[in-house]
Amino acid sequence: MFITFEGPEGCGKSTQSKKLKNHLEARGHKVLLTIEPGGTQVGKQIREVLLDPTSVLDDASEVYLFAADRSEHVSKIIRPALDQGKIVLCDRYVDSTLAYQIGGRQLPEDLVRYLCMVSSKGLVPDLTILLDVPPEIGLKRALKDGEADRFEKEKQLFHERVRAKYLQLANDDPERIKIIDSSQRTIDDIQEEIRKIVEGKLNEKQ
Ligand code: TYD
Repeated sequence: MFITFEGPEGCGKSTQSKKLKNHLEARGHKVLLTIEPGGTQVGKQIREVLLDPTSVLDDASEVYLFAADRSEHVSKIIRPALDQGKIVLCDRYVDSTLAYQIGGRQLPEDLVRYLCMVSSKGLVPDLTILLDVPPEIGLKRALKDGEADRFEKEKQLFHERVRAKYLQLANDDPERIKIIDSSQRTIDDIQEEIRKIVEGKLNEKQ
């Protein structure tokens, strides 16, 4: 079972994925929680380059780096964990590349989709939790802790395009991508909804 967490800046993915991990482990599941970019040793170095606000990267180089990070991550971490029967929770995956590099950066859709297909080796999540939040709320939350990274520094319009692309992806694939409004509700309330969706999916798979 492969579950991804997605959403714009400050949507609360990291908090929610950690809580879900604890919950699933308490129920006796073996769980791996991992992140993109930066889920492997080489990936951590790639992450530094991608997020460093002083990195000067053109948009094509950026998407190649995300693809390199993913290629390493899928073959060295995600696939082996799935083969061992673990539930894999991944904080950002292919939908981030589609939302940020097609939506945000406006790179050609076919190029980005092709890179995603190759780098993920065709591995598609069983379930994707999309935590939706408008940029005016999410960015404020994200910028509260520390210096802005290269993406957080982007203008609001960029983040609006990212959000719109996410919503379009969810609209195109409602079976896999579940939208959860994370703008006004409490952490526990959102977690409750996530658990219900995940439990439904686990029952379906058994
Ligand atoms: P991170 O600190 O993990 O962001 P967050 O806390 O919001 O999850 O930084 C990852 C950044 O990289 C985030 O701004 C989204 C961006 N990103 C892409 O643009 N494309 C991608 O394919 C991925 C995985 C992330």
